[in-house]
Amino acid sequence: MKGEILRALTENHGAVYSGEKLSEVLGVSRVAVWKHIKKLQELGYLIESSGNGYKLISVPDVVYSWEFPEWESNIHYFDEVDSTMTIAKELAAKGCPHFSVVIADRQHAGRGRLSRQWYSTDGGLYFTIILRPQIPPALMSRYGFAASLVLAKTLQESFGIDAYVKWPNDILVNEKKLCGMLSEMDVVDEQVSFLNIGIGINVNNDPTHDEPNATSISALTGETVQRKEVLGAFLKAFEKEISRSSLDHVMEEWKKYTLTLGRDVKIVTVNDTTKGKAVDIDDTGALILEQEDGVLTKIFYGDCFHQASDSRD
Ligand code: BTN
Repeated sequence: MKGEILRALTENHGAVYSGEKLSEVLGVSRVAVWKHIKKLQELGYLIESSGNGYKLISVPDVVYSWEFPEWESNIHYFDEVDSTMTIAKELAAKGCPHFSVVIADRQHAGRGRLSRQWYSTDGGLYFTIILRPQIPPALMSRYGFAASLVLAKTLQESFGIDAYVKWPNDILVNEKKLCGMLSEMDVVDEQVSFLNIGIGINVNNDPTHDEPNATSISALTGETVQRKEVLGAFLKAFEKEISRSSLDHVMEEWKKYTLTLGRDVKIVTVNDTTKGKAVDIDDTGALILEQEDGVLTKIFYGDCFHQASDSRD
């Protein structure tokens, strides 16, 4: 109902919408309309209320489920959680549907790759998508590659941001990190029961306090951006991308949006460091490195550092 009220007021283009007409259009009493308006006002929506009706003045930058009518019943919004990955895992175990999304304004135990912390302060976009893919576990990484490819494309096409992917799934702008992704999956009887992809995007937050080499959409554009616009555009494009009959095309397309291939890189894991030139990825997403002696090595995971051409680190 809140979503319907907001859509009616938005489509009214700043004019006053009478309470009587709203109750007629929505098929509920005027008291019910008033109660929803009151709740929306409490949540930060600036709605002018007078004897003539209601006028929407401004909306807060909050990603409530009703802001996404296509997915409303599958969206789980929280103001603060430990990590959206934890909630997503619980929901997946309880059988929630494919393409459910857990979103939080803040996380006090946000998780990054390789057991790192993901600082999740106000203004960032933190969410986990729960998928129930129908492809073999060995090819599951294609969804992460699809997510990073789609996000880079969306940021370029809808927000004018020069976003590219760093292997495996970071989004960089001018070599600074704008977004990170983390995947978790559960396999039962050789079938994937769920694949959860967690995505953290620096939108209006300033990540540089904790991550000096990071950036945000607002720092890049000089403007505050509504997080719901970013999330809505991404979800729409990602849903379309993964609804294709197969994800065979993803790796080839990802190559057009990556900065990693052709670069000298250093891959660091807890156990070792490998250096070489990134020459390709295979169809599972493993990075193929050409080492100094010409030997090709496959790298399956690790932190990837793009090396400056004159770097000897
Ligand atoms: C990385 O680059 O290390 C991955 C960062 C992933 C962060 C996101 S924010 C939403 C989701 N919840 C988490 O705790 N982590 C992921």
